[in-house]
Amino acid sequence: MYKMSEKPLITATQIAERLDTLAQEIKAFHPEIILSVLTGSYIFTADLSRRLSSPDLQIKFIKASSYGCSTESSGKLEVSGLEGIDICGKRVLVIDDILDTGCTMESLAKILNGMGASLIKTCVLLNKESRRTVDFHADFVGFEIENEFVVGYGLDYANNYRTFPDIWTLRDENGK
Ligand code: IMP
Ligand code: MG
Repeated sequence: MYKMSEKPLITATQIAERLDTLAQEIKAFHPEIILSVLTGSYIFTADLSRRLSSPDLQIKFIKASSYGCSTESSGKLEVSGLEGIDICGKRVLVIDDILDTGCTMESLAKILNGMGASLIKTCVLLNKESRRTVDFHADFVGFEIENEFVVGYGLDYANNYRTFPDIWTLRDENGK
């Protein structure tokens, strides 16, 4: 059994404050289309996109399921929802919840690069740098965190905890 930390790792207030500054960083890039990776980034995407509020900024949602790392392009990543999305010649902002091993974002970036975007930048709410197994860096990062499993604010454990406004650490009974 897992239990939540006694206090949030990152509070809703801290998230809101960081999103204000993050949105300013992203505005300088002038994205034309957001590709949001479901499901973990749905709250982050909603909150961030409102701060970008640009009339011609489009949003599309895609799903990505990673089955481990691969050195070959898109080897073990299943992506759905890209059908019918035209990113050709556009400035694309890819939003995901958390960069862990980096496999998902690395493979996704390769796939999107082959779709003719003029520029692709990536944004994650959380970055676990110490967990990286591939050479991938996000262009925009909300918070750096340690090697801990986190839930809340859209992030899940077995599809639970997503609706919590704060971000919490999940530990097993032995506190690990
Ligand atoms: P990566 O391909 O290893 O970077 O995996 C990233 C994906 O794993 C994220 O989009 C999340 O869905 C999931 N993930 C990784 N770490 C956590 C965590 O601490 N909490 C919840 N989901 C996580
Ligand atoms: Mg995910």
